[in-house]
Amino acid sequence: MKSIFSLAAAAALVGLSNSTPLPDATAAAHGPYHISGFFASKPHLSSGCRFEFNLTSPTLPSTPPVYCWASVELGFSGATWLGYVYQGLGHCDNERVDWTFNHPRGAETDRNDAVFNVTVDGVLGTYRVPKEDIYVNLNDEGNPFDNDVSYSGPREFEIVDFPGGN
Ligand SMILES: *[C@@H]1O[C@H](CO)[C@@H](O)[C@H](O)[C@H]1NC(C)=O
Ligand SMILES: *[C@@H]1O[C@H](CO)[C@@H](O)[C@H](O)[C@H]1NC(C)=O
Repeated sequence: MKSIFSLAAAAALVGLSNSTPLPDATAAAHGPYHISGFFASKPHLSSGCRFEFNLTSPTLPSTPPVYCWASVELGFSGATWLGYVYQGLGHCDNERVDWTFNHPRGAETDRNDAVFNVTVDGVLGTYRVPKEDIYVNLNDEGNPFDNDVSYSGPREFEIVDFPGGN
């Protein structure tokens, strides 16, 4: 605790001695990104996937958390993948936040991990969702159109990987 206080004091001094302190753009100042209520699911017999989550981070207001969502069309009610929320398809109620999610289509026997990226003020955090955390139910194996797929990992987790460094 002592070192945190002295760090804060040092930071305050730096701020005082600098007439226009720049916002700290380093990942260390921005992270971790705390995700809660993470939900991604293709409803039964639907061909679309719905995503939702809440986000807090050290530089974002925490009450209420930033709420993010997306709907992606998979084109096939037999999809066993969660799809690609590309840049611009994911929404948040705070324009400082951007996100993508990519779960590529994989063979039935060789499913893929997914990558979830969240950007706050341009600082990218990335999180790998292991394929074990994506639940697939083929239901009636004779019917290729009634598969279910949903995220089944922890609903709350932290993004601590900041590939931009710092
Ligand atoms: C997000 O947070 C709001 C406000 O705290 C809450 O009402 C909502 O249920 C949360 N959503 C999810 C997906 O957890
Ligand atoms: C997510 O971030 C990683 C790491 O920088 C990058 O390789 C990948 O292309 C990004 N994915 C998307 C869908 O933006």
